Order: sequence, then C-alpha cells, then structure tokens
Amino acid sequence: MWLLAAASLLLAAVMASSRLRVLVLVRVLVRVRVRLQSLLRGTPSARTVHDFVFSNCKHGDVLSVLETFDLYAATRPSLSIGPHTGALLDQVVAQVLDQVVDPGRPLWALELGTHCGYSSVRLLRLLPPSGRLVTVELDPPTADLGEEVLLVSGFTHSQFQVLTCSSAEAISSMRSNLETQQDPSPGSTLETQQDPSPGFGLVLMDHDPDQYLPDLLALEGLDLLRPAGCSLLLVSRDQNPEGLQRVLDHIRGRADRYRVSRDLQGLVEVFYREGGP
Ligand SMILES: C[S@@+](CC[C@H](N)C(=O)[O-])C[C@H]1O[C@@H](n2cnc3c(N)ncnc32)[C@H](O)[C@@H]1O
Repeated sequence: MWLLAAASLLLAAVMASSRLRVLVLVRVLVRVRVRLQSLLRGTPSARTVHDFVFSNCKHGDVLSVLETFDLYAATRPSLSIGPHTGALLDQVVAQVLDQVVDPGRPLWALELGTHCGYSSVRLLRLLPPSGRLVTVELDPPTADLGEEVLLVSGFTHSQFQVLTCSSAEAISSMRSNLETQQDPSPGSTLETQQDPSPGFGLVLMDHDPDQYLPDLLALEGLDLLRPAGCSLLLVSRDQNPEGLQRVLDHIRGRADRYRVSRDLQGLVEVFYREGGP
C-alpha cells in the first residue's frame, strides 16, 4: 500500500516538474518572440532606450548623453534622429541662431515628438541663454522618460517644458501660454523678457508626418510662427513620405511667406517670414 502511495507521489512530482519546465519554456519562447518582433518592426520601447542611456551615460554631461544614445543606435533599432541627421540639425540650428536671433531677445523653440529626448538634448545644448524649448509628446510614459533624460543631461525646467498631449492640443492652447509666459512674473517656468515679435523662431517636426500639414496650418492660423523669421525643420523618414510631401506642397504654394532653404537627406529646412522670406 505504502509502495503504491510513494509511486503515485513520485509520478505526481515528475508530472509537476515537467509541467513547470513546459511553463518556463513557454514563457521564454514568448519573450523571445516579443523581442524578435520588436527588432523586426524596428520599434524599440522607449523604456529600453531610456534605461540604456540612463545607466551608461555620465549624468550632467550632455555629450556623454548623446554619445550613449548613439552607442545604443549603432547596434539596435532606434527612433532617435541619430548622429547623421543630428549633425545636420546642429548645422542648421547654428545658422538659424545667427540669422534669426536678436541678441537679448528670447528665442522660443518648439519640438513636436520628444520621444526619449535625443533631439531635444541636441537642440537645448545649442540654444542661447535666452532660448527656451517647448517639446510635445503624445505618449505619457514616453514623455516622462524624455523629461528625465533632459534633467539627467543637466538642463532645468527654466530652459524647457515637456507638454504631454497631442501636437494639435498643444498648439491650440499655446497662444495663451506664450503670452502668459512672456509676462516675467515670479514663478513662471518659462519666464522671458518681453518680445515685440512673439512666436516660435525654431520649429522641429518629428512626430507623425500626417500631422505636419495640419499642425503647420494651426501654427500659422494662431500666429505662432515668429513674424520676423522662423526656421521650420521637418524630419523626413522612410515611412509615410506622403505626409511630408503634403506639407511641402503647401509650403511651395505659399512663396509669399515660405522658402525651402535646404532639402538634405533626412531633414528639410524651410524659412518663414511674414511679408516674404
Ligand atoms: C520619431 S519619434 C521622435 C524622435 C525624437 N525626435 C528623437 O530624435 O529622439 C516620434 C515621437 O512622436 C510622438 N508622436 C506621434 N504623434 C504625435 C502627435 N500627434 N503629437 C505629439 N507626439 C506625437 C511619438 O509618440 C514618438 O515618441
């Protein structure tokens, strides 16, 4: 009798352990499938990129932050604009600052599509002390990660603001925000001096190409482009070239206010000025 009980117990233990092994194997296979799908789709999670940058860069060192992003992107798919388009962005921004910025006047920069903050860091490190960046990210967890990267890079909330909403929502509420924040009242996060020509002097679009045209029309309609001159930088990626084409068609049809200054691989620069570029 006791022999039968022991044999049943042994059999149950073997079955349980093989069931456990099967369960473990299934879990491993599911993880491998998710990882492979992510690699094949080229859509790495913002969390993975953020964690890599956060734990490998030197905190407070902007160059180290950018190099760590580039190191990640060298071997894994990444949504950041990367070092090639990044270098073009640097060149364009340096020239914009020469042409558009009046010394002593605030320069407002707008970025649509923060993701993990790579292009925000590139922009922020080039802005003059009077420069402020407003960056917009639709996905709340991603916006938090991007904001943390900006803080880890050493920037403060007096230099930037992350808006967590769609570009359309951000733009529609911006005119009143810009006016409020140009009032140098104590406690304002983006406090600036009064500017007789308010509006953004630099706009970087790297969010959803289908939104490029509606967002530009909204920026125009709400007088958010600096009338004295605004550089509009459009990131072009392989996906959805039609979205970029639509906004370029609009721009080319409005020669009275726009000029395509540069059409580089990965980045199109457009200059806007009220009354003619
Ligand atoms: C290509 S990534 C931006 C990469 C970033 N410029 C960089 O270099 O690190 C695009 C980001 O735009 C965000 N996005 C997409 N549509 C948006 C919208 N309508 N408004 C705001 N953000 C949007 C996505 O969630 C994503 O994080």
